[in-house]
Amino acid sequence: MNEYNNKVGMMWSATAVSLLFATLAVFLAAQPAAEFYMTAPEIIAYHGYPVEIHQMVTDDGYVLELHRIPYGKAKAKAKDVVLLQHCFLCSSVDWLINEPDRSLGFMLADAGYDVWLGNFRGNKYSRSHLKYKPHQLDFWDFSMDELVSKDLETMIDGVLNITRKDQLHYVGHSLGTLTMFSRLSKFPEFSAKIKTFFALAPVGRVHHIGGIFGFFGNNFGTIFTKLNRASGSFEVLPTSVFPFLGRYLCNTSDIFLDICSSAINTFSGFAKSPWDKTRVPLYLAHTPCGSSSNLMDHLNQMIKSSHDIPHFDYGPAENERRYGQLIPPVYNYSAIQNTTIHMFWSSDDFLSTTQDLDEYLFRVLDPSVIGGIYKIADYSHLHFIWGPTARNEVYQPIIKILSESDLS
Ligand SMILES: *[C@@H]1O[C@H](CO)[C@@H](O)[C@H](O)[C@H]1NC(C)=O
Ligand SMILES: *[C@@H]1O[C@H](CO)[C@@H](O)[C@H](O)[C@H]1NC(C)=O
Ligand SMILES: *[C@@H]1O[C@H](CO)[C@@H](O)[C@H](O)[C@H]1NC(C)=O
Ligand SMILES: *[C@@H]1O[C@H](CO)[C@@H](O)[C@H](O)[C@H]1NC(C)=O
Repeated sequence: MNEYNNKVGMMWSATAVSLLFATLAVFLAAQPAAEFYMTAPEIIAYHGYPVEIHQMVTDDGYVLELHRIPYGKAKAKAKDVVLLQHCFLCSSVDWLINEPDRSLGFMLADAGYDVWLGNFRGNKYSRSHLKYKPHQLDFWDFSMDELVSKDLETMIDGVLNITRKDQLHYVGHSLGTLTMFSRLSKFPEFSAKIKTFFALAPVGRVHHIGGIFGFFGNNFGTIFTKLNRASGSFEVLPTSVFPFLGRYLCNTSDIFLDICSSAINTFSGFAKSPWDKTRVPLYLAHTPCGSSSNLMDHLNQMIKSSHDIPHFDYGPAENERRYGQLIPPVYNYSAIQNTTIHMFWSSDDFLSTTQDLDEYLFRVLDPSVIGGIYKIADYSHLHFIWGPTARNEVYQPIIKILSESDLS
């Protein structure tokens, strides 16, 4: 009897010890890429580029951190200023996360531009406020409307002031485009500061959005709104466990790299264009990196709206107080004037969909502001920032358009 117990005990111990070693082996084998735990400015310096960090304070107290690559490796005197503005739950890092010759931030610096990378309030670089701390609900009390009315103005006026320019070129991806369309429509005179607006995966309506965000918004949007109203706005999808998953799950085998890639595709689209799955752990180390539940709720409200993009819906009483009407007013993209917009889109994108573009955005914009509409084959939403072919299909064309505008 005793002998039997001993044997079972030994078997258990042996199993436990092997499991421990297997786990350790996996942990030790999964060396992360060099940029895994770096910040955006550290990545810029790591690749041998000059870097500056600038903080700009909005008039409602948020401290926004911008990153700058003032010139490229050739050290030529920089031509125009370009500001790059990230997507929902993204950051300045997303323009820098592939190799320098495949990342728009570095390519623009090497093409002779003074490159600025913005960060909206609430992401990992702009988690600071003069009065509130991120653990307080007050910190998260913002929707897209504040990015439009405060953040874009603070960042762009700040950049123009420091560089002593009157105008800059703006490149937005996804939310970075939706906020700029909204800004230019609500404050049409702001276009005097925007020489060219490049919209990658442009968003001017999200009614036909697909993937996880579409499913979530359409099926659980109402529950989420209730939860959000009851609790007060809170933080959604901060960096938290994603680097850990990237390093210790996705990067343990080829199969897991595929699984993690597919998980990302359920958000952005299953597109045929090449995709470097070996970098997925690195993407997860940096993205998602936090935003507010009011902004998430705002996006859900936009999904329900079959026509224009509404301002945030606070419920009838608060709407009446803030807007002087029971339902939120809408952004009117027909009012955009005096700028040149180049739009890069794909029919395989789950978030910036053919229907929302063809039936709405491309039609409501005044023809005089459309510089070009470029359809890219087989791109998901994230190919525009992470795709290995974006260099040739999107970034080189942007640099060509910019060089032509330098001459004019
Ligand atoms: C994944 O693991 C390999 C092997 O340890 C390592 O060389 C690579 O840099 C890791 N990839 C990322 C993106 O961290
Ligand atoms: C412009 O920049 C200067 C310092 O370079 C600063 O003192 C001033 O407050 C800034 N003005 C605005 C409007 O941001
Ligand atoms: C656009 O430009 C025209 C001509 O320069 C000017 O008259 C008009 O006021 C401008 N509109 C805005 C909104 O700035
Ligand atoms: C939207 O803007 C256009 C151009 O300024 C204007 O003609 C139209 O009346 C506006 N629509 C609404 C609903 O305000």
